[in-house]
Amino acid sequence: MRTILQAENLEKVYRVGRVDVPALRGVSLEVQEGEFVAIMGPSGCGKSTLLHLMGGLLTPTSGRIIIDGEDLTAASDAKRTDIRRRKIGFVFQRFNLFPTLTAEGNLRLAESIHNRNGKDDPERRREVLRLLRLEDKMHHKPLELSGGEQQRVALARAVVTRPAIILADEPTGNLDTENSAIVLNMFQELNYRFNQTIVMITHNPEAAAMCKRIVQMRDGQIVEPAQNVRM
Ligand SMILES: Nc1ncnc2c1ncn2[C@@H]1O[C@H](COP(=O)(O)OP(=O)(O)OP(=O)(O)O)[C@@H](O)[C@H]1O
Ligand SMILES: [Mg+2]
Repeated sequence: MRTILQAENLEKVYRVGRVDVPALRGVSLEVQEGEFVAIMGPSGCGKSTLLHLMGGLLTPTSGRIIIDGEDLTAASDAKRTDIRRRKIGFVFQRFNLFPTLTAEGNLRLAESIHNRNGKDDPERRREVLRLLRLEDKMHHKPLELSGGEQQRVALARAVVTRPAIILADEPTGNLDTENSAIVLNMFQELNYRFNQTIVMITHNPEAAAMCKRIVQMRDGQIVEPAQNVRM
């Protein structure tokens, strides 16, 4: 089995004025290829901090992160940006789409950031748009899409570059029940069809139940040992 993500004893202390806020107090986590992991826990327990560290958006105070064989923590800023671009797909609670670009334009932009040689892959783009049932919405701009459709475009954008791992921070947090179910089914399908490795933060027990493993956090630590719900 291929280990996609290895986080070792991560600590993160935020400095606010003269006060230290310990957000992570020694978190270790391993994710294998093809896993679909949920991270759960009360507000403020450090879930987003952990996800941002794993994705190289933040640097830890101490500890180490290895993504698909590459050490994020030892990398320079430029190298970390490069690893992030090649290996990681982010999906946030707010969809962060470019408002002036169509759905397809948003995907092309992600591809052009990913492949600096400007190569794009229309076949892959079509496949992803089809999988996410967005073919007929390709030419819509974000404001011409529903919330669920916007989140599906954000998901399409994250997977179109074939990242080693998708990191999603409450991807259904802004959606109603129906759209949440659609987006979660898409995650499941991506995991199942393409063996896409996914780590998803969620407050929703039903969403977590779709995952193969649930990691519970509290006060900056993982409270339960990694537990296989369904493999
Ligand atoms: N940029 C920051 N500067 C200072 N403190 C921060 C910063 N970001 C987060 N924190 C603090 O770190 C702790 C963990 O925050 P984090 O955002 O990781 O929690 P979370 O589990 O994602 O919560 P939620 O479920 O509400 O999104 C909190 O106490 C928070 O106030
Ligand atoms: Mg959060």
